[in-house]
Amino acid sequence: MTKPSPQAIFQVDHAHLIHPLHHPSDHQEPLLFVEGKGAILRDIEGREYLDGLACLWNVNVGHGREELANAASEQMRRLAYASAYVGFTNEPAIRLAERLLKLAYPNLSGVYFTTGGAESNETAFKTARYYWKRRGKPNKTKIISRHHAYHGVTLAAMSATGIPAYHKMFEPRVPGFFHIPPSYPYRLPGSMAEALEEAILREDPETVAAFIAEPVIGAGGVIPPTPDYFPRIREICDRYQVLFIADEVITGFGRTGRWFSLEHWGVQPDILTFAKGVTSAYLPLGGMMVSREIHQAILEAPPAERYMHAATYSAHPTCCAVALRNLEILEQEGLIEHAARMGERLIAGLQTLRDLPIVGNVRGLGLMCGVELVEDQETKEPAIGLGARVLAEARKRGLVTRIRVGQRGDFPIGDTILLAPPLVITEEQVDRIVEILRESIKACL
Ligand SMILES: Cc1ncc(COP(=O)(O)O)c(C=O)c1O
Repeated sequence: MTKPSPQAIFQVDHAHLIHPLHHPSDHQEPLLFVEGKGAILRDIEGREYLDGLACLWNVNVGHGREELANAASEQMRRLAYASAYVGFTNEPAIRLAERLLKLAYPNLSGVYFTTGGAESNETAFKTARYYWKRRGKPNKTKIISRHHAYHGVTLAAMSATGIPAYHKMFEPRVPGFFHIPPSYPYRLPGSMAEALEEAILREDPETVAAFIAEPVIGAGGVIPPTPDYFPRIREICDRYQVLFIADEVITGFGRTGRWFSLEHWGVQPDILTFAKGVTSAYLPLGGMMVSREIHQAILEAPPAERYMHAATYSAHPTCCAVALRNLEILEQEGLIEHAARMGERLIAGLQTLRDLPIVGNVRGLGLMCGVELVEDQETKEPAIGLGARVLAEARKRGLVTRIRVGQRGDFPIGDTILLAPPLVITEEQVDRIVEILRESIKACL
């Protein structure tokens, strides 16, 4: 039988596959990847691309890892799946929970597994409500999040998301979610932590369950905070008894040059949510780690107040086995330290692009960088539409990545080129990313 041509495959794609973020005009010339090795992806025509975003910020140990395929295969052959509902458990999940707690902040003591980031945040919101009900404060139910944040596709995670394009066609949002401006030094002066205090007081502290934030905003434009931001956030949350949920779905597992990124500022969250890099995307897995206090509230609950949060694939043995092997690779190959070094090289290289008149701001932490495009460096007028053109030029030159699409209005941001390559990226590949971006931006001037 002859193999179908790429065009024939694309026709079936157009006919039947609904993509995440779907508009037919975006799929006219899709890239069909068939192979990967390290930081390189190869398409069906045999062309190679540097993977500038580790696919979706998640292929931390790089493509083509046989060790992870073997870990999955061994576990699947023995026991692919078993329920972890009450009365049942499995060894990979137990070992992974123990391992994760050794890597994360010392105040955390319990782990709940999910299958992705949105479900982890959803779990965190429900757990915050659960905790306050157990503590006799049933009115503490509201969630405060930030403009430009991205927290996932489910209704509550979407409601916490602060990018209007994700709400528009799915309104109304879940009630009880409120947004504050983030720390965004390029466009908002000061640390902006006080915005949280104002929002808590405005809403009434007795009604606010939690504040959620990505330590470095990711899909919203790679926006690291000022150094004093999270220490102040922690103080404010403590003052008003508001739980602090750190969404480390992108920033966990070495992305910022530390295992978890609040380490940069010496802060601990009450709940940490994770996904993506925990398995380097080889299988879907996510989860939540909770503080001792929250864990105790679950462990000491009377039967009538049990924690009823029943996800079929929670603690999936095969996903957990892959995660365990993935963590070993990150550790044994020193990839966290490597990410810190490559991140410094990448941001230093990107800073050299500021001589190009449409580059407004270059920012990042570890291997997570953003290049914000503007119409005018003085006025910072957001460039909108330019980012897509730069991406197209970069693709022609062998680099694939994504952009944060810019917006005007109350919370302006220019199109921002997002970069978060696999942590195994080499120095030469980092330099090549910078070179390609320079050529691509110049081609759009
Ligand atoms: C910070 C953050 N939180 C949550 C999510 C949602 O994760 P998922 O798509 O696995 O549900 C994402 C996805 O990009 C993310 O970047």
